[in-house]
Amino acid sequence: MIDALEWRYATKKFDNTKRIDSSKVEMLKKAFNLTPTSYGLQPLRLVVIKEQELKDKLFENSYNQIQVKSASHVLVICTENIVDEPFINHNFELQKEIRNTKDETVKSFREFLIKDFGKKSDQDIKKWAINQAYLALGNLLTICAAEKIDACPMEGFDSAAYDRILNLNEKGISSALVVPVGYRAEDDKFAGFQKVRRPQTETIIEY
Ligand SMILES: Cc1cc2nc3c(=O)[nH]c(=O)nc-3n(C[C@H](O)[C@H](O)[C@H](O)COP(=O)(O)O)c2cc1C
Repeated sequence: MIDALEWRYATKKFDNTKRIDSSKVEMLKKAFNLTPTSYGLQPLRLVVIKEQELKDKLFENSYNQIQVKSASHVLVICTENIVDEPFINHNFELQKEIRNTKDETVKSFREFLIKDFGKKSDQDIKKWAINQAYLALGNLLTICAAEKIDACPMEGFDSAAYDRILNLNEKGISSALVVPVGYRAEDDKFAGFQKVRRPQTETIIEY
């Protein structure tokens, strides 16, 4: 895994003649969906884009960062706009269906969550959901590294423009993070750069 983590880098230019095959895209979708989330509520969705026309439009709204245009696929990690009682109940219904969990077993936890989220402001819920988006990002980056798929984590994009272009508001979600994926271009000079990391003596504390 360390070799894989050293191999990966934030890819700036992809070889746009190379496409990730569909079985690998399916694997990335599964890995996204297997990401653990706070309370297991999964306030996330993933938009997977392969249409070039759409990637070109998104590129213009990502400070012209070439990785968005040249990637095989652009993944957009989105957060749910509403995490309310029906949303929480849906999760418990799934649990009931999959694990045959009895209503009385989860009653107090279900009530706690509904009450707790009911007290949170929209902003608090957004912040909580975005934290889960970062976890999905980390998971995807590690999986990509293990599978020798190049990727670039990205915060540098116009979220409102993405929401408009991809009709995300209609779906009740907002774009949080972008991950272009594909295969590095031979002339991406960043591929040969040494990794810059603070020394472990500075970042690790052991007792
Ligand atoms: C949350 C996050 C957002 C980032 N946003 C961008 C971005 O918009 N554009 C970009 O080129 N790199 C972006 N990066 C890449 C970082 O600059 C890069 O990961 C860091 O310098 C470490 O280099 P490495 O990933 O090549 O090891 C982002 C990284 C993270 C984790």
